[in-house]
Amino acid sequence: MDSLEINKIVACILVVALVVIGLSNLTEILYEVEKPEVAHYIIEGIDDEPTTTDTVVSEEEVEEIPIQILLASASVDKGAKVFKKCSNCHVPNEGGANKIGPALWNIVNKDIGGADFAYSNAMSSYGGKWSYNELNGFLKNPKKYMEGTKMSFAGLKKETDRANVILYLRSLSNNPAPIE
Ligand code: HEC
Repeated sequence: MDSLEINKIVACILVVALVVIGLSNLTEILYEVEKPEVAHYIIEGIDDEPTTTDTVVSEEEVEEIPIQILLASASVDKGAKVFKKCSNCHVPNEGGANKIGPALWNIVNKDIGGADFAYSNAMSSYGGKWSYNELNGFLKNPKKYMEGTKMSFAGLKKETDRANVILYLRSLSNNPAPIE
């Protein structure tokens, strides 16, 4: 093979390469898709700016509805069903005996702790009364609300469950406490 022949072959390859490149450019030109300047699927009411509801907030930061308001739409019957989770350890009726946990007759506004049960130090020394607020906080997460309590119960995470069971607890009395 002399150098002229090699030159021809190189020239051939170049031409083929050029044609291929040219063709691909041509198809690009022919089929170029016009990109819209704005997306056409904008949905009313949705914008790019994050709104407060988009922001992830931890459970603690969410402002809770006061228990007194939740009690207004709670149900004693539903609360009795929720109470099945408690009844292994608690007796609800008047004069009921302590089980694993203390009897719960007249519990609303009762002093926290006392001599009627072998309470943990945490509960004995807590002070105050079982107001609706205290019950709501305690039943949501007993161990977190009252560190050291011996009530082995994970808690009622749903506020409606808590409201229903608290309204049920309120009914465990001959003279139910006012909701205030
Ligand atoms: C595994 C057993 C167990 C379960 C389940 C349980 N508790 Fe308790 N509960 C206890 C014990 C034990 C105590 C005493 C805690 C202490 O001394 O720290 C207690 C204490 C309480 C008190 C305070 C009583 C008082 O006399 O001061 C309330 C109110 C209460 N529980 C409500 C409930 C409710 C409502 C449920 C169901 C949603 C429930 N508990 C589920 C064992 C239990």
